[in-house]
Amino acid sequence: MNKTLRQAIIAGNWKMNKNRAEAKELIEAMKPLVADANCGVVICVPFTNLETAMELTEGTNIKVGAENVHFEKSGAFTGEISADMLTEMGVEYVVIGHSERRQYFGETDHTVNLRTKAAVEAGLKPIVCVGEMLEDRENGITAELVAMQVKLALKDITKEQLKNIVIAYEPVWAIGTGKTATADQAAEVCGLIRETVASIYDKEAADAMTIQYGGSMNPKNAAELLGKEDIDGGLIGGASLKAPDFAAIVEAATKG
Ligand code: PGA
Repeated sequence: MNKTLRQAIIAGNWKMNKNRAEAKELIEAMKPLVADANCGVVICVPFTNLETAMELTEGTNIKVGAENVHFEKSGAFTGEISADMLTEMGVEYVVIGHSERRQYFGETDHTVNLRTKAAVEAGLKPIVCVGEMLEDRENGITAELVAMQVKLALKDITKEQLKNIVIAYEPVWAIGTGKTATADQAAEVCGLIRETVASIYDKEAADAMTIQYGGSMNPKNAAELLGKEDIDGGLIGGASLKAPDFAAIVEAATKG
């Protein structure tokens, strides 16, 4: 089965949640619960929690990610953080192009591409988010739109660099709403993303790519979603803020 060709990764996306003390508490609670995972385990945390997360996860199977990165190396970009600043701390992953950044902070397919390139060039592993709005789905353009987002995000990315990139399919209407895409809907678009990657590179590259689903994934629906051939893990928002819930999803991926 092709699923064995790639690693399932469960990544938490904490968004703008948890102060330092709360982060410490959550990570400490999570550590023993996910220690036996045979999937990748990542927590993407606010910039202010990166140092705490790096310290507390040292020597464990939990990897740390940021939630955004700027595409320039340095300079007059007040408020921004560069890829080198993250790698220097030991940060391994970074979420790029989350729909909340596209919706509220002017992120475009072009800047997603710039950030993705800067991240891989610095040695970070981007988790690139794509997904349609409810209106797009109702207008029947999900497939075209997601394929376009994938093509633009990966523009000028080499096949070698692609090995360090994860794509997360996150239908915007399912994020934080409690409305999950059905496992079949999610698998259909994840499959389409894989076909798009195959059309840009080749089948081998596409088969090796980790493609996650994100959007109200929780301990109840995780097993069904993660059991699908084309879904290799999840990007978890709300449920990643509770250690037992996150651990239950990691366990579902371990079995998946
Ligand atoms: P959710 O968020 O799990 O709370 O829906 C997912 C995400 O935004 O990555």
